[in-house]
Amino acid sequence: MKERIERIINSANEESVNISDLKSLEEFRIKYLGKKAELSSLLKDLGSLTPEEKPSAGKLLNEAKNLIQNKIDALRKRFENSEKDDFIKRELIDLTLPGTKFSSGHFHLLTTTMDNICEIFVRLGFEVKTGPELETDFYNFEALNIPSDHPAREDFDSFYTESGNLLRTHTSPVQIRSMLSEPPPIAMVCPGKCYRRDAIDATHYPMFHQVEGLMVDENISLGDLKGILESFCRHMFGSHINIRFRPSFFPFTEPSAEIDISCVFCGGKGCNVCKNTGWVEILGAGMVDPEVFKAVNYDSERWTGFAFGMGVERVAMLKFDINDIRLFFDNELDFLEQF
Ligand code: DAH
Repeated sequence: MKERIERIINSANEESVNISDLKSLEEFRIKYLGKKAELSSLLKDLGSLTPEEKPSAGKLLNEAKNLIQNKIDALRKRFENSEKDDFIKRELIDLTLPGTKFSSGHFHLLTTTMDNICEIFVRLGFEVKTGPELETDFYNFEALNIPSDHPAREDFDSFYTESGNLLRTHTSPVQIRSMLSEPPPIAMVCPGKCYRRDAIDATHYPMFHQVEGLMVDENISLGDLKGILESFCRHMFGSHINIRFRPSFFPFTEPSAEIDISCVFCGGKGCNVCKNTGWVEILGAGMVDPEVFKAVNYDSERWTGFAFGMGVERVAMLKFDINDIRLFFDNELDFLEQF
């Protein structure tokens, strides 16, 4: 009897090592402590032992039972705890925690600003055109009434290729390209990059963006220019915005004006952005000079038109209170991701 009990205990010890979950633990329990277990039948056999053998055999049997039962209890506790952990990991999701963020990227502020500008003009009936960034002297200067000896060329110092072409200094050459490619009426805007040999500072960068505009038809007047630009500025900066025309000079328009909007920061009261004038410059414009019409073979007796050009960086800086043009191009995500 003693030997059989020891064998049972040994094999239970060996087998218990392989128990890996509650299911195999239950199988183990049935095998060693169940009704049909060897220990149970030994217990029944106790009755057939002599009175001398009975107590010690009974004691051994009980010890064996307790030993196995303790092992089962300990294993059950361990498995139940780890199942609980798994359940917590599996099921207890805190729905109030912020989700995993997927960053999808977005357009650069200058791209969106340029798109917004064009969109406003499209709603006013303009179409969007583009032109090359590498231009010829003819399109960038000559046809725009800036002959090679004209002092205005100094304002447009640029990058030249060896063949004499240049990186365009403004988007105005697209006016010429449009007029040479189709007869009036024309209403177009052209967004794009421009280049000048400017030293970098808070308001200058050798590459920048402009949106050009041109409208040519019969009877186009300065009043049309004013109405269109006022409408644009109010769409862009808010319906409370006022505009004013300041006489200026551009070789390709006559008369020419620089257009200011009432300061977006102080509402016209005067602050350091508008240098206490209440106004900030936003674009250049004017009535197309007859010399320009001559260069594209338009009859200036019949057709009149207006043109304008604005700096996209300037518009974005005014709209979003940005005080340094370099921020657009430094590729600092902390800045760019705000927009
Ligand atoms: N091209 C000018 C510049 O870069 C801006 C400009 C002024 C464009 C007047 C125009 C205009 O079309 O009419 O400074």
